[in-house]
Amino acid sequence: MEKIIDESQQGTSLVLEQKTENTRKLFIESYGCSMNFSDSEIVAAILLKEGYNTTQNVEDADLVLVNTCSIRDKAEQTVRKRLEKYNAVKRINPKMKVGVLGCMAERLKSKLLEEEKIVDLVVGPDAYKDLPNLLSEVEDGRDAINVLLSKDETYGDISPVRLNSNGVSAFVSITRGCDNMCTFCVVPFTRGRERSRDPQSILEEVNDLWSKGYKEITLLGQNVDSYLWYGGGLKKDFEKASDIQKATAVNFAHLLELCAKTQPKMRIRFSTSNPQDLTLDVIETMAKYKNICDHIHLPVQSGSNRILKEMNRLHTREEYFELIDNIRRILPTCAISHDIIAGFPTETEQDHQDTLSLMEYVKYSFGYMFTYSERPGTLAARKMVDDVPEEVKKRRLDDIVQLQRQHSEIRTRAYLNSTVEVLIERESKKSKHEWSGRTSQNTVTVFPKEHYKIGDLVNVKVTDCTSATLIGEAIDYALD
Ligand code: SAH
Ligand code: F3S
Repeated sequence: MEKIIDESQQGTSLVLEQKTENTRKLFIESYGCSMNFSDSEIVAAILLKEGYNTTQNVEDADLVLVNTCSIRDKAEQTVRKRLEKYNAVKRINPKMKVGVLGCMAERLKSKLLEEEKIVDLVVGPDAYKDLPNLLSEVEDGRDAINVLLSKDETYGDISPVRLNSNGVSAFVSITRGCDNMCTFCVVPFTRGRERSRDPQSILEEVNDLWSKGYKEITLLGQNVDSYLWYGGGLKKDFEKASDIQKATAVNFAHLLELCAKTQPKMRIRFSTSNPQDLTLDVIETMAKYKNICDHIHLPVQSGSNRILKEMNRLHTREEYFELIDNIRRILPTCAISHDIIAGFPTETEQDHQDTLSLMEYVKYSFGYMFTYSERPGTLAARKMVDDVPEEVKKRRLDDIVQLQRQHSEIRTRAYLNSTVEVLIERESKKSKHEWSGRTSQNTVTVFPKEHYKIGDLVNVKVTDCTSATLIGEAIDYALD
């Protein structure tokens, strides 16, 4: 295998793994969560062996794959628009094949082949190893589909091809699927039951990334804190495991510690934490290892106990506050971020005020905020009426966004005149004379390049800020 270093116009180096003997070209595009971006790297690795190198140019492609998201209706509409664009390309390049991967493939199955004439191939998130067979069917002129969900597929044996990588930070997936059954969420249906990946293969991937020059990893899962390795199999079958398997099982706190110890200079992040599964052990492990970043993404969805219950989030507002207090006590400098949904069915003005007051209590560093989007097949869609008018959802979302903006500003301003450690990731979008990187708390920081380079860990004196970005000057290298 050969590595091609492609210096793009912005001066950011893009590392592409290619095989010189490969003749076919794959254009792969990802939407939605980080897991999808990570899965596309697995798909690229499977297809690299099948003679496909990746291309950044859709017009050159023999095969176009779009890795899709179903989380909200809007995400699906975006993909449908992209398929129209591919249609136009196919008129110029009629031999091009188009495949849909990910959550839309799993949710819509053969309907996608019927509704979207351009689609030749439909592959669900657990069936990527079947791609070589499916592609040979497509080459023989037949549409192909595999949407089987698996009990044990974790792709732990596949070494991902890093796509669009800055060569500094990488995703490492550790669990697949979700057993939580939040009533609004389509993920348990599209990604199946929860299973964890062998810690050995995770550590091998982390070591391999370090040897290739990567400086930061993000451990990925829908619900990372529920990671549990007991020799393979579904999380829900753990009770049936043998005594030896139970005694030697590895949980998330343990995995985090293994990763932190194995590569003590690698920065480690993780996402997403469900409040009901985040343990004190994990928080204490974070405190013990400097290389585990000071940031927890802790979606709350709502501040109202009644709505939390309707959502089947298995904690109360008070328990969430207790968790926040514990994080602040054990990790005083830790940034906390959120996901919040505005306008879940039956949400009243009082419920909405409860969300705003919860936000006041936590004063999150940042967050992802959405209006509720009903997803077919979920418990909420089957049992509840989507009864909050669209304009009320939008107004409540607006309140939440405004308040978050104020809190982000407070959190960002608190770093003024302090010195922060920044891992340089890329050139700043605003100026080619400046670097952009993130602090341990995940705050984007920009500063003049001087003699520093991508991948350096640098102490930066913060002299100014916007609501979400720190602006400063590098002082020196940050050495442990
Ligand atoms: N595993 C994560 C969430 C994954 S989905 C967790 O533990 O919470 C990412 C976010 O999308 C969710 O946190 C939620 O805020 C939002 N989301 C999911 N389903 C949604 C829906 N039907 N409508 C609006 N937002 C939704
Ligand atoms: Fe979705 Fe809840 Fe799982 S939001 S991904 S069902 S934790």
